[in-house]
Amino acid sequence: MCGITACIGETDSVEPLIEGLQSLEYRGYDSAGIAVKGRSDISLAKSVGEVSELVDEVEENPLSGEYGIGHTRWATHGGVTDENAHPHTDESGRVAVVHNGIIGNHQSLKSELESRGHTFTSDTDTEVVPHLIEEELNNGATPEEAFRSAVARLSGTYAIAAIIDGDEAIYATRSGSPLVFGIGPGRYFLASDVPAFVEYTDQVVYLHDGDFIAVRPDGYEITDGAGRQINREVERVEWSAETATKGGYEHFMLKEIHEQPGALRNTIHGRLNALDGTVELDDFPEGTFSEIEEVQFVGMGTSYHAAMYASNMLSARGVPSYAFQAGEYGLVRPPVKSNTLVVAVTQSGETADTLDAIRRAQSAGARTVAITNTVGSSVTRECDETLLIRAGPEIGVAATKTFCSQVTALSMIGERLVEDVTGGQSNSARDLVESMSRLPGHVQEVLDTSIASAVAKEYKDADSYFFIGRGVAHPVALEGALKFKEISYEHAEGFAASELKHGPLALVTPNTPVFAVFTGFDDEATLSNMKEVQARGAPVIAVTSKTDGEIAEFADHVLSIPETHPDMAGIPASVQLQLVAYHAADLLDRPIDKPRNLAKSVTVQ
Ligand code: F6R
Repeated sequence: MCGITACIGETDSVEPLIEGLQSLEYRGYDSAGIAVKGRSDISLAKSVGEVSELVDEVEENPLSGEYGIGHTRWATHGGVTDENAHPHTDESGRVAVVHNGIIGNHQSLKSELESRGHTFTSDTDTEVVPHLIEEELNNGATPEEAFRSAVARLSGTYAIAAIIDGDEAIYATRSGSPLVFGIGPGRYFLASDVPAFVEYTDQVVYLHDGDFIAVRPDGYEITDGAGRQINREVERVEWSAETATKGGYEHFMLKEIHEQPGALRNTIHGRLNALDGTVELDDFPEGTFSEIEEVQFVGMGTSYHAAMYASNMLSARGVPSYAFQAGEYGLVRPPVKSNTLVVAVTQSGETADTLDAIRRAQSAGARTVAITNTVGSSVTRECDETLLIRAGPEIGVAATKTFCSQVTALSMIGERLVEDVTGGQSNSARDLVESMSRLPGHVQEVLDTSIASAVAKEYKDADSYFFIGRGVAHPVALEGALKFKEISYEHAEGFAASELKHGPLALVTPNTPVFAVFTGFDDEATLSNMKEVQARGAPVIAVTSKTDGEIAEFADHVLSIPETHPDMAGIPASVQLQLVAYHAADLLDRPIDKPRNLAKSVTVQ
């Protein structure tokens, strides 16, 4: 949800700033802009649309400067216009600011500033910041003092970077929105996420809420709100710049779908003991959950589907478990009892609804665990404990490999919970763990043999697409429909297979293909549901490992998955549905990696 970049060094900053914005485009692509400063005044370039528009603008009207800031926008306050594009400046043009987040008190600050003669040119919440800095400068503050004083007036969420005439520096701070600092040879970087500068350096500092950083060509200083110096660890990013490129694929999404065997290998690496059917999670030793009586999973979108999947698996094994959409969790009162564990599922680790749910759970006394892909993200700091899914960077806005890695990580921590809460392994623990260890191969098999592109082609002119499943296949069906609608822009809906005849069946016609997901759990009932829709003329595409029984016989097409533990079958089944969605969107010529109106990291509620 908006991406910011900044860099400062010995050579011109325009190229690394724009490259950084291109890598952050998954955070928003309504407009983009940069502000740079060298020997002359601050110069600006902005354009509505994707970063490619900004590239054209900069080619036509070149600008240069050794340091600068950049922004790619997902509009929250104010329409998609040049005026609302960042960076924002003060009236004198001495200050330029980029911001990710929402300044909650911007309206009152704006009225106050207007009453003192300031004129605003945009509808954004951000524009108050350069004006506040300008006032402080006019009152005699140094650029650094002015930046700090302006930030002290803000409430809400923000990662802010500013350049201010009179000091060769970038000032930045964060509260509730991500900000990472990159230490490269001859250049420093700031950005919302590591891909923005991983091409230049793998040395990063994950800044914390309340940190201020002043970066100059020859060094940097991190301080707290009171100006006291803070030491933050410099960490090495584990993945290479290559992982954040398309690597020969037409879209990031297709590349990420194909990366799943490797991502799953990383997720399970060193964490499974297939011989005795146990999981070995360093930070969650045996007995760590023995006090827990109930588990609540919270997440949004795809992560909510992973949460549903996990709660389904755990409930079936005797651990009382529930999944909640984080945005609805505890709006009245968090449903936390004593000894409740609340698990936040979020690939970005920055989803505002999920962070809010975690805070509500903590205030009600729950223990919290984060399941995330993002080292150093807000959720890792706010939760008591973290399990990283280790899927590698995901740039396509539609989540693919992170979903499968989330489900796998949740299955592992789930097995620890089953052992600790129920006092023993589940009956099928050995099978389950063995199936987890075979997931990379199973997913590879799907990738090598899928007929998803032919299925997508056959049904590309359908009116609507429905997805059904029961047990863990229910969240897989919901996820299949979400993926389909978000990248193809076609109507798609997922249902519990049992729900179909209680209403949705009225929508079923010969022109509404139904994807029926079979994972080996109560397949007979889903087979009946499949026949019910077929009786109304709908073509059925079965996702199943049973390629020679009644399911295959009755289905119009089969997207086959390897035979595995029923709880793991949802993962290869999801991969089949990701491929169908991808090929359908490709045939319709949709902007697959950047679906309209969406952004990858949703940092507003
Ligand atoms: C859909 C998708 C979204 C996210 C949701 C939560 O493909 O990616 O539905 O799953 O916005 O994001 P995280 O996982 O970052 O909390």
